[in-house]
Amino acid sequence: PAKKIAVVIGSLRKDSLNRKFAHEIIALAPPSLEFEIVEIGELAIYNQDLEENGATAPQAWTHFRQRIKDADGVLFFTPEYNRSIPAPLKNAIDVGSRPYGSSVWSGKPAGIVSISPGATGAFGANHHLRQCTVFLDMPLLQQPEAYIGGAANLLGADGKLNNDSTKQFLKKFIDTYATWVETNARK
Ligand code: FNR
Repeated sequence: PAKKIAVVIGSLRKDSLNRKFAHEIIALAPPSLEFEIVEIGELAIYNQDLEENGATAPQAWTHFRQRIKDADGVLFFTPEYNRSIPAPLKNAIDVGSRPYGSSVWSGKPAGIVSISPGATGAFGANHHLRQCTVFLDMPLLQQPEAYIGGAANLLGADGKLNNDSTKQFLKKFIDTYATWVETNARK
């Protein structure tokens, strides 16, 4: 059966380049993977008081955790905000990592694609996210690294990827990630 991949997109805006590229990569993926975009915009900012000492965790947190738990792997798409990851993405990571000892990220084979209209391909965000995956104990695909710079210029007026070498690279990335998931999935 196909492996279920949770897609987490670090931008909340409607016309997000990251979301557009997520759809491009999903379209290029081999049939051994199926994808579900897991939205993060409705997650309350993490606060231990909301679920500790007898409090019941917000439903959006519980729902989010379950969807990640049900996945065989996680593919992150991140913009760069001030050389780091956007707050909603960090929040989603924090929500999924708790309660202590029950992180839903643990062991999930991960991939990171960072996307920016700028020249540096959101390198800073990509590597801050990598730092989180170390502590979260996610086996992270190391190569190829995916830093997509000048991203706005790679899309046509229809919002679709119109650059052949980028398409080839993304195909190679997602094929390698598919093999990574097969090799590292725990269930
Ligand atoms: C940015 N942007 C940005 N770009 C970049 O390459 N490096 C950076 O450090 C930042 N910093 C930054 C901070 C904040 C608060 C915002 C709102 C934006 C620009 C960013 O790359 C651009 O808005 C992208 O289009 C965001 O990704 P989505 O929403 O298109 O997926």
